[in-house]
Amino acid sequence: MDKKQLKISTFNDALDQIKDGMIVGIGSGSTIELLVPKIASKLDQENIHITGVCTSNKTAFIAKELGIRVVDVNDVDRIDVAIDGADEVDENLNLIKGGGGALFREKVIDAMADRFIVLVDESKRVDYLGQTFKLPVEVDKFNWLLVSKKIEADQNVNTIRRVVDDVPFITDNGNYILDIVLHKNIDPYAMHEYLIHLVGVLETGYFLDVTDQVIIGTQAGVKVIQK
Ligand code: A5P
Repeated sequence: MDKKQLKISTFNDALDQIKDGMIVGIGSGSTIELLVPKIASKLDQENIHITGVCTSNKTAFIAKELGIRVVDVNDVDRIDVAIDGADEVDENLNLIKGGGGALFREKVIDAMADRFIVLVDESKRVDYLGQTFKLPVEVDKFNWLLVSKKIEADQNVNTIRRVVDDVPFITDNGNYILDIVLHKNIDPYAMHEYLIHLVGVLETGYFLDVTDQVIIGTQAGVKVIQK
């Protein structure tokens, strides 16, 4: 199976956890964009209703087009279950997210959920965060270069402002993304704590101690890891 098929193989276990009347956090990225039509089909087939709260404008657009009720995050006090993808998952179910640049809204919504479920193919499993993916950090446009230089000087790492199609990538919140090249000896908790206090940093792509379940599509079958 290719990566797309492995991602799809995780969907049944995730869909089983969506029940009538739930408020569901709907994440972002290619995995979730494949999942949303399956959620819509489930609602039709079982004649049930959910309220969706989306982590990106793109996902919200797709969900609404498919007839899923979508509300603003400020319209809910809590979320029953949030389902999202990830760029890396370590053995403690800590994550790097933000490959699609939606990390701030993902962090708000995924952390609000009573239950946070992550869907990945097996290539996302890593020994340490940063092994295969850079750490995305959302920064204000105003002082982004100063922030970038400070991180490089203080932490002895390289940072790259994200560029897509030859132009700087802009998040749904109107900010830039800095991608930080991590190395094995970096403590994710310490690095997050350092970054989050810099003036100009909105959020980091570290998702630490928030995951309840990871569903992994592997060549040997679907593996469910519970916190
Ligand atoms: C979006 O900002 C990300 O956090 C995605 O959840 C993550 O990049 C996983 O993306 P894929 O589902 O495309 O692998």
